[in-house]
Amino acid sequence: PAAVIVAIDGPAGTGKSSTSRSVATQLGLSYLDTGAQYRAITWWMISNGIDVQDSAAVATAADKPVIVSGTDASNPTITVDGVDASGPIRTQEVTARVSAVSAVPEVRTVITELQRSIAAGAGNGIVVEGRDIGTTVLPDADLKVFLTASPEARAARRSGELKGKEATDLAATREALIKRDAIDSGRKTSPLAKAADAVEVDTTDLTLQQVIECVVTLVEEKR
Ligand code: C5P
Repeated sequence: PAAVIVAIDGPAGTGKSSTSRSVATQLGLSYLDTGAQYRAITWWMISNGIDVQDSAAVATAADKPVIVSGTDASNPTITVDGVDASGPIRTQEVTARVSAVSAVPEVRTVITELQRSIAAGAGNGIVVEGRDIGTTVLPDADLKVFLTASPEARAARRSGELKGKEATDLAATREALIKRDAIDSGRKTSPLAKAADAVEVDTTDLTLQQVIECVVTLVEEKR
């Protein structure tokens, strides 16, 4: 079959990553976590002493870090200037700042180009997950899925992923998620949005397995 391009968008905590990885693995497709790339550039900014609220400084530095994403769904990797960033990009500090950095148009231009070149190079097809994949990065994707879930379900899932102390505060997790979504949905340049031709899947009352099966079926219909 021809290389199929699948775009999976939605807010945090809807099961995008788990679903995308599993679908890619089951169907033998490559996988790209675009949130990890925005997290990586944010980590680089913080590490280099750039004030992430200073959008002019962020814009000037946007093309400096060299971000390399591995596209193996069973082992997604990401390096920044050759350094493994998989751990550091998941800290609360990065999570709290990534929406400010990803709202800067120059950052989006650099990262979007990177994403398009990775997708173009995936000969076997690819599952790309993010916020603006169906609307902006890959508007000609063969299948676009938009995952949603209630704020309660999303906060509970995200809390379950965090370890120890961070996991205990469900209310704080919920607040942080809602704040991040508001910035992501409200920014001028390619906000979080459902593409007109995306299939919306409300995952609130579905198990992860059910969501995966649903998306696999949708992809198979397109192949
Ligand atoms: O998916 P994840 O929660 O790791 O994404 C982290 C952040 O990266 C999002 O909150 C958003 O600010 C940004 N992002 C984006 N566009 C994408 C993917 C992620 O702006 N396509």
